[in-house]
Amino acid sequence: PKEKFWEILDLYQLDGYWYSGDVIPGMLAFKSEFEALSDDVILASSMKTGTTWLKALCICIMGNQRKNDGDEVDQLEVKNPHDHIKCLEYFYYFNLLSKLKDMQSPRVFNTHLPYSALPESIKNSECKIVYIARNPKDTFVSLWHFFNQILPPNTEPYRLEKAYDSFIKGIHLFGPFHDHVLEYWQESLKNPNKLLFLKYEDLKRDPKGEVRKLASFLCRPFGDEDNDEVDKVLWRSSFERLKNLEVNKNGKLSDSGVPNSSFFRLGNVGDWQNCFTDEMKQGLDEITCKKFEGSGLDL
Ligand code: A3P
Repeated sequence: PKEKFWEILDLYQLDGYWYSGDVIPGMLAFKSEFEALSDDVILASSMKTGTTWLKALCICIMGNQRKNDGDEVDQLEVKNPHDHIKCLEYFYYFNLLSKLKDMQSPRVFNTHLPYSALPESIKNSECKIVYIARNPKDTFVSLWHFFNQILPPNTEPYRLEKAYDSFIKGIHLFGPFHDHVLEYWQESLKNPNKLLFLKYEDLKRDPKGEVRKLASFLCRPFGDEDNDEVDKVLWRSSFERLKNLEVNKNGKLSDSGVPNSSFFRLGNVGDWQNCFTDEMKQGLDEITCKKFEGSGLDL
């Protein structure tokens, strides 16, 4: 089946999820051909749930290099987090397999694909997956702003009510949102050493605790005495800092041409309150309750 995504994109449904049609062949190739390495790290998320933040945190935890004088190179000053950590299935959509082969280990990627669409080699190897989830109302508002921001020039802005209608039907890129989150949640319960499930709101509420948890999961634990190091990671990857870095104020992503600045809007919890009507809140809350009932998941 085919649907319009907010009248911008044609979406096609495959195994219950909606994708932009032009990526489906690459996605299928990825699913059958990708060979995961045991030290790969895959950052998984639905769109607009904190992927940029998670990438920045992982870059700080895993990736800082040293200059000849011993000082650390702050990689986030050099490139946007999405230009450091690339979307795994893009290598297949855009036929960049030689680049994939040339990558040094440990390789870190991201994916927006649902768990059920991941290659068996990811599921069966020892590689690790970190999933970041966010409450559905803020995710939707962030998604709506994002697509309005990257609309082609002279296109009419997409109305909130129409976008909401698609979102609650699950018709959006990599939707339905709730199914996406639930698949990863259930997998994290079965296999917590393989899949770490994080929440955007927890990172906001207890950043130090969550960063320590993430670093331990990535086998780079901070010791009790490493508080300054933890603070440094949090400051380097903070919204305020990243938003104001020259590289993110200007420039576009090398693959997609999306402006770097579009990944840094507000960075708050609860922005949905500024644009939802009572009916919208009630409608989305009801779906969330129904979908997550009995799962132990609360967003
Ligand atoms: P808002 O639109 O609510 O501001 P993604 O990275 O998955 O595309 O998600 C984007 C959302 O994360 C946006 O939310 C963006 O502002 C927020 N964000 C980006 N970088 C962040 C950071 N370092 N800390 C907290 N939030 C961040």
